Amino acid sequence: MENFSGKTAVITGGASGIGLALAHRCIVEGMQVVIADVNQTDLERATDDLQKRGGAVFGVHTDVSKQASVEVLLQAAVARFGPIHLLCNNAGVAAGRNAWDTAVADWEWTLGVNLWGVIFGLNLFVPHMLGHGEPSHVVNTASIAGLITPVSMTPYAVSKHAVVALTESLHQRLVARNAPIRAHVLCPGFAKTQIYNSERNRPGAVADISANPATAGASDKARRRIQDSVESGIEASEVADAVFAGLQDNRFYILTHPEMNELIELRHASIMRDAQALGSSR
Ligand SMILES: NC(=O)c1ccc[n+]([C@@H]2O[C@H](COP(=O)([O-])OP(=O)(O)OC[C@H]3O[C@@H](n4cnc5c(N)ncnc54)[C@H](O)[C@@H]3O)[C@@H](O)[C@H]2O)c1
Repeated sequence: MENFSGKTAVITGGASGIGLALAHRCIVEGMQVVIADVNQTDLERATDDLQKRGGAVFGVHTDVSKQASVEVLLQAAVARFGPIHLLCNNAGVAAGRNAWDTAVADWEWTLGVNLWGVIFGLNLFVPHMLGHGEPSHVVNTASIAGLITPVSMTPYAVSKHAVVALTESLHQRLVARNAPIRAHVLCPGFAKTQIYNSERNRPGAVADISANPATAGASDKARRRIQDSVESGIEASEVADAVFAGLQDNRFYILTHPEMNELIELRHASIMRDAQALGSSR
């Protein structure tokens, strides 16, 4: 799709950070925008702000980890603006510790939002896009943590690797059937957002591991480290610009931090080193 003007975007996690920056950019492109978010206060603020800037914007309270909620989002978005041409599966949370000491509740919350949220988005919106048949795009927000494996926040890295695999599979199937939909996976490095403050969106029913005195110290330390990295990251608007450049150039992998390319190469090199070692020992 070359010209986005007059088309409609749905952006999950659209009330803050990268999602909000994407919404701003969509409005600059002349699109109609539906922002979907679980945080009602941020959703209302973002919707008001975008409308004041003259955008055709509609906010829908959505919990992407619940299929029924994403169904309501699709229905509300179509009822308001008609066919959807750009879906940004972007909502995300960062939580969890190591592979062996992350609370089950943290696994469920992180995978519920970061992975199931994307699965529900694809399950509902891709058939809608195939149905209307107009050129469309799906952008799934993974992370650089989906291409390399950071040492902390294991559930987060697992969810992001899964989103990369999910989107690669989607891309291959869409290309194979010559569908009018293009898939893209967004893998940003650190950007200045509220991701380190994900606890604000933790559902009440999920136990808070940081309330456990045995783990609170380590959790706080990990959170502070992430906050420092996020606050020294690039602007969210730069990520949104990278997304639109990727859409225009029809790139599948959309990355934002060239200085991290070396880490991706290192991971691939270690896979190949062990694969070749096996070959030469046979
Ligand atoms: N900021 C970074 O450094 C960075 C780097 C790589 C990837 N990402 C990814 O970017 C995406 C956006 O995060 P961000 O950095 O803008 O953080 P953010 O916290 O500023 O924005 C995330 C948004 O998702 C919403 N959200 C959380 N749970 C939700 C749910 N269950 N249903 C609907 N909405 C929900 C939040 O309310 C918030 O508005 C995430 O997927 C994140 O993992 C961020």
